[in-house]
Amino acid sequence: MNTADLDELRALLGAPGVLHEAADTARYGSDERRLYHGRAAVVLRPASTHELARAVGWCHARRIAMVPHGGNTGYCGGATPDESGTQAVISLERMRRVRSVEKEAFAMTVDAGMTLAAVQAAAADAGLLFPLSMGSEGTAQIGGALSTNAGGVAVLRYGTARDLVLGLEVVLPDGRVWDGLRCLRKDNTGYDLRQCFIGAEGTLGIITAAVLKLFPAQAQCETAWLGVRDLAAACRVLSALRRRLGDCMSSFEYLSAASLGHVLAHVPDVQAPPVAADAHLLVEFTAGEGDALRGDVERALLALVEADDVTDVVIAQHEKQRRSFWRLRESVPVAEKALGGSIKHDVSVRIDRLPLLAQRASAAVLAHVPTARLSIYGHVGDGNLHFNVLAPADVAPDTFKAAHGEALSALVHGVAHELDGSFSAEHGVGKLKRELLVASEGPVAIALMQALKHAFDPLGLMNPGKVLAH
Ligand code: MLT
Ligand code: ZN
Repeated sequence: MNTADLDELRALLGAPGVLHEAADTARYGSDERRLYHGRAAVVLRPASTHELARAVGWCHARRIAMVPHGGNTGYCGGATPDESGTQAVISLERMRRVRSVEKEAFAMTVDAGMTLAAVQAAAADAGLLFPLSMGSEGTAQIGGALSTNAGGVAVLRYGTARDLVLGLEVVLPDGRVWDGLRCLRKDNTGYDLRQCFIGAEGTLGIITAAVLKLFPAQAQCETAWLGVRDLAAACRVLSALRRRLGDCMSSFEYLSAASLGHVLAHVPDVQAPPVAADAHLLVEFTAGEGDALRGDVERALLALVEADDVTDVVIAQHEKQRRSFWRLRESVPVAEKALGGSIKHDVSVRIDRLPLLAQRASAAVLAHVPTARLSIYGHVGDGNLHFNVLAPADVAPDTFKAAHGEALSALVHGVAHELDGSFSAEHGVGKLKRELLVASEGPVAIALMQALKHAFDPLGLMNPGKVLAH
């Protein structure tokens, strides 16, 4: 990018809105997992939708490809520029305002660059709840979470990001602004444009603001750590608790003994759970004022112990213990990283097929590399497992991944496909899983997706090479 271009951009965005020196732009050039390393021509950091629209219009006029960039916590390389050094990264990090809170309408309007944690805190300040929650919430931005249709740990009750949005504002690839910031619970006016952008990973436009659904704050919260024999027992427990306690159950998370073992061995300052078991569940229940939640939860769990589906159970006695339970669960990715990283999978199937998925995928992986280490954990309440494979203890992780990554992933995804499942339950497609998308969705779906891309972005300037290869 030449000096005249940079001067024009500075005139549009101000000096803090334009980063050009390699030392300043380097951190936007690779992804969280360090799978991709690219180089941006420039990093644009607009402070408002108006500025962002002007910057996009400027790029569009010059046919410069753009890569929207949120908190950069994604796992599929969706926010990383390519190696050409010609793409402009557009970071939302300076757009962090709560625009308004509509308490009586149970909604709030926020800039896309706010972190999830900041959105949750703003909702809590208003005495309400924004339920989208995940380990990366301190860094992940709401715009990125919507663009990837993030899931997290409360999907069971509140749905994925897609279910939590009433309205959006989007800057289109040519710089026009679509103002869809409506705060309506019901609105059947034609095609639902909002849903096109959610999960599109910034390939159709850049989400700049959203009207989010809020929920009543939950005065009561009970969090239990359960020991079970295996995943089949976990699924029976899920079904029994759902029947008995219904929507009170907000999280139902599974950790294999191996995943927990990695956390205990490799993450500092964690406390072992109060239960020894072959497999573990972290289950959370919430309710408003007045319901006798604790008693209901205790009786339901006791019945499961008596039926022998739960081998042991402890309900958190205080907030500190609750947090220590959650820390164990949320530290699994941290432990895997400390072990040199894993071959990650984010598969989902019909909930009652989860045991079959784990069984068949384990058999397939271990037949290929008998000493591979499995780390199976995740959102069993949503039919979503992270079926991760770590290098044998005596093999360097990078060597293992290079030698076996592709073959093992093909096996795991093959099993998910056989069971009519998905290769990407909540992590998206990005650059990493483009070929899988083509293989799994079939020609009709891909043709429709390409037509949609062409309709929104005929010049192919917005996050090219992500989700769809072209
Ligand atoms: C999780 O559920 O912890 C993440 O989605 C998976 C991961 O970080 O590997
Ligand atoms: Zn997850």
